[in-house]
Amino acid sequence: MKKGTRSVKAGSKKATPKRKVTQPESAPAKKQEVAVAAAKGRPMLTWVGKRPLRRVTAFPAQLVETFNPQGQKDGWQNLLFHGDNKEVLAWLLANGFRGKVNLIYIDPPFDSGADYVRKVQLRGVAGVAKIDGETYTLGEQIQYTDIWANDNYLQFMYERLLLLKELLTEDGSLYLHCDSGKSYLLRCVLDEVFGADNFRNEIVREKQRGGKHHVKKSLGSIHDTLFHYSKGDQFTWNEFRKEVPERVLLERYPYEDEQGRYALADCTNFKVDRPNLTYEFLGFLRTWKWTKEEMQRKYKAGEVVQAAPGNIPRRKVRPNEGDLIQSLWYDVPDTESHTDYPTEKSPKLLERIIQLSSNPGDLALDCFIGSGTTAAVAQKLGRRWIGCDINKGAIQTAETRLQAIIREQIEAQRQGKLLEAEGGGPPEPASLAFSVYRVNDYDLAIQHNEAVNLACEHLGVQRTRTDAYFDGTLGKRLVKIIPFGHPLTPLDLHELEKELKSRPREDRQIVVVCLGKEPTADAWLEDWNRHRPVNKIEVIELRTDKKYGKFFTHQPARARVEIKGLKGKIVVEIKDFISPTIIERLNIDQTIFRAQVTEWRAMVDSVMIDAAYDGKVFNIALSDVPERKIDLVQGRYELPAPEGPATVAVKITDMLGEEVLETVQLR
Ligand SMILES: C[S@@+](CC[C@H](N)C(=O)[O-])C[C@H]1O[C@@H](n2cnc3c(N)ncnc32)[C@H](O)[C@@H]1O
Repeated sequence: MKKGTRSVKAGSKKATPKRKVTQPESAPAKKQEVAVAAAKGRPMLTWVGKRPLRRVTAFPAQLVETFNPQGQKDGWQNLLFHGDNKEVLAWLLANGFRGKVNLIYIDPPFDSGADYVRKVQLRGVAGVAKIDGETYTLGEQIQYTDIWANDNYLQFMYERLLLLKELLTEDGSLYLHCDSGKSYLLRCVLDEVFGADNFRNEIVREKQRGGKHHVKKSLGSIHDTLFHYSKGDQFTWNEFRKEVPERVLLERYPYEDEQGRYALADCTNFKVDRPNLTYEFLGFLRTWKWTKEEMQRKYKAGEVVQAAPGNIPRRKVRPNEGDLIQSLWYDVPDTESHTDYPTEKSPKLLERIIQLSSNPGDLALDCFIGSGTTAAVAQKLGRRWIGCDINKGAIQTAETRLQAIIREQIEAQRQGKLLEAEGGGPPEPASLAFSVYRVNDYDLAIQHNEAVNLACEHLGVQRTRTDAYFDGTLGKRLVKIIPFGHPLTPLDLHELEKELKSRPREDRQIVVVCLGKEPTADAWLEDWNRHRPVNKIEVIELRTDKKYGKFFTHQPARARVEIKGLKGKIVVEIKDFISPTIIERLNIDQTIFRAQVTEWRAMVDSVMIDAAYDGKVFNIALSDVPERKIDLVQGRYELPAPEGPATVAVKITDMLGEEVLETVQLR
């Protein structure tokens, strides 16, 4: 495929220089308040509970993992964040990324009312899961649920778009991917945030091949929509051409001479008041495109011809290097899946967007990264990238995908295959490393939905799915369930206070449900309850509460691992692994239960080893993530031992994303 990647800025026609690669300033230990610029303002959509976002709190980020197989010390390392993107974007703004992101692509949940589910599949289909002709491979886990009511959804998107605009460079672009359910509303929100002048295109993409879709009494909806907005009128823009199929080429250019195929086109001028171009040529008095001398030159060179004697002269038109793409994209559907992630988008779609609106070395951001498509394509096209997702399964999927790509790039480099962009090959990678950060503690987020359901059932809470903040009601009281991944802190209570301020007419009492609480929260609560006539807060601490407590027993996954140092080598052997949650999910009977226990590896998605673990950041020295789900992890590993005493850490991640970390100190 021939693609033009001529680098020009629309409006300036100037080449964009390769950007200097910089790393963010180190993370501040404390939370910070960050200012957010107001929306441009018109046109303006309104919704119930609409509020501006003038300030956000940036919480500290914790580095949890690095993938740096070549031990790269200097320069940029890509970033993957696990957390709510509002907090992650605030962190980026507080840490040197304001005005530094060249391209943003987002594919948020569509608010379609559907539960997106990831299939939980055990490894090794034949050996373990197929018994008595039935398949037991499928358990289902809710990855995320987009069941917000309209108003909450719009507020959610509005806040993210305001933050995203702040991160864009002056010549940057944002692409928002959505479907017909919300596109008309999101276009208004985008106009308000970016200014209608900065609307560049509405792209309609055929998301699946037509013809298969049969819907009674309506048309199959087989397209989705992408809105392109730039931050200003000088934005990065590279022409993108796509190959024209041979059949179309023959139709369009029906003639052939020694220089190749051509078509014949008119060579008269559509402006008739051009006396210097009006003359007689081969018996035709017309206003032509060129002067008489130029016309004669072209005629002699065979570029202007008469198809038959007596016919008006016409010019030969030859095919370009492919066609410039337009706003209708019917050739990048989501047909093949690389990761099994339910909403994975086509890499070809991202290739197009990244090439159109960024240059090698530029920074691309996707804060709804899902399976990691944007980062994967950015990595292949020599862009730097930042990704974020609230879902641990997504982060793990993206991590695995990126690790495989980087390994391939290292191997290709070793064989001298990667060429500089100018040389015609793929651009050199901007970095061969990435780090994973967590903003707030979402370790238990994978069970959060489940935990909320359990807690609600146990306490008799009536779920309210239309409220973005409160989870339900208990009698007349409003209930907020704090994610079980962290104890209740004054920060959570500040959030609650902010929420109540935005609802001045709310006079109900509040119940906050948490697993445990930090002692500092008590003073805050005492003070609040003493001074508030309404909205008094009662806390139910599930771990200790006498009435409701002790119902929530999460049985963690367990592993039996042997780690030994042997003649300059580390030998790791996993002897057994068990995940009570997986077994419970699969809801299997005794026979199958036994079958599973005999093959612990069916439950394990990946094994990673850090040969010199510092207790904080996991540096992957060896990873075993079989690409195909029918393959099992090896279970036994050997790797070189570092010099001197070191802690060896083995991280085993199961098919639900739960992690077990085993460490041994070697002398
Ligand atoms: C439609 S999917 C994106 C799919 C992605 N484009 C791909 O190719 O795989 C939307 C993603 O947004 C994530 N998400 C939803 N709310 C979020 C939030 N508040 N912060 C970060 N990620 C969020 C979901 O977990 C989900 O992975």
